[in-house]
Amino acid sequence: MRMKTRLYVYTGTGNSLWVARQLAAELKKSTLAFMPYPQKAFKVQAEAVGIIFPVHIWGLPSRVIRFVRHLKVKPGTFLFAVAVNAGQPAATLLQLQRLMATRKLPLSLGYSIVLPSNYIPWGGPGPMDKQQKLFQEAREKVKAIAGPMLRRDCHKVERGPLWQNIFFSLIYRMSFQQVRKMDKKFLADEKCNSCGICARVCPSANIEMIKEKPAWLHRCEQCLACLQWCPQEAIQYGEKTVKYQRYHHPEVILKDMLEQAKANK
Ligand SMILES: Cc1cc2nc3c(=O)[nH]c(=O)nc-3n(C[C@H](O)[C@H](O)[C@H](O)COP(=O)(O)O)c2cc1C
Ligand code: SF4
Ligand code: SF4
Repeated sequence: MRMKTRLYVYTGTGNSLWVARQLAAELKKSTLAFMPYPQKAFKVQAEAVGIIFPVHIWGLPSRVIRFVRHLKVKPGTFLFAVAVNAGQPAATLLQLQRLMATRKLPLSLGYSIVLPSNYIPWGGPGPMDKQQKLFQEAREKVKAIAGPMLRRDCHKVERGPLWQNIFFSLIYRMSFQQVRKMDKKFLADEKCNSCGICARVCPSANIEMIKEKPAWLHRCEQCLACLQWCPQEAIQYGEKTVKYQRYHHPEVILKDMLEQAKANK
């Protein structure tokens, strides 16, 4: 039997998972799953399929690209996406729409939702009152976008200003191939107590515990889950992160993240 709506989510610090859960509550008869990292064609039987993910470096995370390249749906399946970001979605949803078009998967709706930033190399998530404001605005936006999804509308996907789309998309293209090896900048400092949570939480199995310390294996997706969920705040990325506040969505817990990692193994 075809499910009504199937949602797939990818997340580093829970923002996208929280959005996906809010959306699942608004959409009737929907189910939610973590986005797999498929090795072969991935068939989904549903009337509608939604993809919810964080914007990374002004574009799509590699996992989303891989998922779309392997996704198979029946003709006529209604497709939509939500790009969760910290205020600069740039041309991410256009990139997704073009990628999907190459696979004859028409993206009918694409929305941006802004939540606190988890990109700690550039600073913390901001003051609590501003975070609360973003949560409230996101709640309202989810309610607003559920209508067009339920009606099966088709609109232009949301995007940033033209200059951002041109300039930042260029930076995205230049940096995309380097992402796997960007984990060279991670280190576990003296606060590390060898609990192994970083290795368990990583959705791409990119961390191995060697001599009771994490070692990064250079197939990183830069989701920052390892750094943000380390209970000792022992993981640093470069020199500045030691002074920045850690972040994960307050309604998402470590258990949720471990489920995502397990779903990918
Ligand atoms: C490697 C990386 C790159 C990011 N690049 C962008 C970006 O280009 N634009 C933006 O608005 N936010 C960017 N962010 C912030 C995240 O998109 C944002 O915090 C999102 O809510 C995180 O969602 P998650 O908790 O589901 O992973 C980036 C975060 C990471 C980790
Ligand atoms: S999660 Fe933190 S404390 Fe635990 S092993 Fe990893 S770096 Fe060490
Ligand atoms: S190593 Fe850290 S940043 Fe890289 S994919 Fe794993 S959890 Fe994400």
